[in-house]
Amino acid sequence: MSSVDVSRSVTVPELRAAKARGAKLAVVTAYDYTSAKLCDAAGVDAILVGDSLGMVVQGHPTSLPVTLDEMIYHTKCVVRGVKRALVVADMPFLTYQVSPRQAVKNAGRLLKEAGAHAVKLEGGVRMRATVKACIDAGIPVMGHVGLTPQAVHQLGGFKVQRDGVALLADAIAVEEAGAFSVVVESVPAAIGAEITAAVKIPTIGIGAGVNCDGQVLVFHDMMGLFPDFKPKFAKRYVDLGSAVKQAVETYCKEVREGAFPAVEHSFR
Ligand code: KIV
Repeated sequence: MSSVDVSRSVTVPELRAAKARGAKLAVVTAYDYTSAKLCDAAGVDAILVGDSLGMVVQGHPTSLPVTLDEMIYHTKCVVRGVKRALVVADMPFLTYQVSPRQAVKNAGRLLKEAGAHAVKLEGGVRMRATVKACIDAGIPVMGHVGLTPQAVHQLGGFKVQRDGVALLADAIAVEEAGAFSVVVESVPAAIGAEITAAVKIPTIGIGAGVNCDGQVLVFHDMMGLFPDFKPKFAKRYVDLGSAVKQAVETYCKEVREGAFPAVEHSFR
């Protein structure tokens, strides 16, 4: 079944309602104008400006160093490239965990200054009041449960999360607080299916099995652009990394041999 109407902009209520229609949602991350424009033109339902940019764009080992100003900068770039998809911006580490008040103030900046349509924040039961405070302020929230990468040190690494009871409670808490959808990351497929059956909002899986209501992939993972690490759950749809390396090698050779620029690249 096709997901949302491809001829106009995707809205938060429309994305939420997709589940009742049995429509599967396709979400990707993007961090800049050009990739966002390509993903939007390809028909994704939502673009997540993920704080994974800390790793795939900035080269950090985790997303923890990413700042709110950096998220605002990247979200602005993405928003300029998008005509149709819903743009969701990640709230970076320590911009919402301190208090619901802090969360509203910072989430507000992502909508007001950067032009995001919604924010995503990590955590379930312990983030209930924070999610609710944002919703009460008119800020749509996408939840994120399972492996929550900002808690990587507390979790002891980027590990599959297997406590089904706690994970279900987290997803339900996020739904009850008013989130319009929830990312479920790195959980066994059976738990992904159980959460999806238990909540009315769409679950967006990443390493959570086929039964989620939608899927999200990190742009660099699906394009083969991130050489450092390939998560088991990431499917590489194209090997752009090799193509880019080969193109640059050819360019270097042509410059050194005087084959580039040719006549057609030169002004008379
Ligand atoms: O930061 C990110 O890209 C994410 C996705 C992996 C869901 O949170």
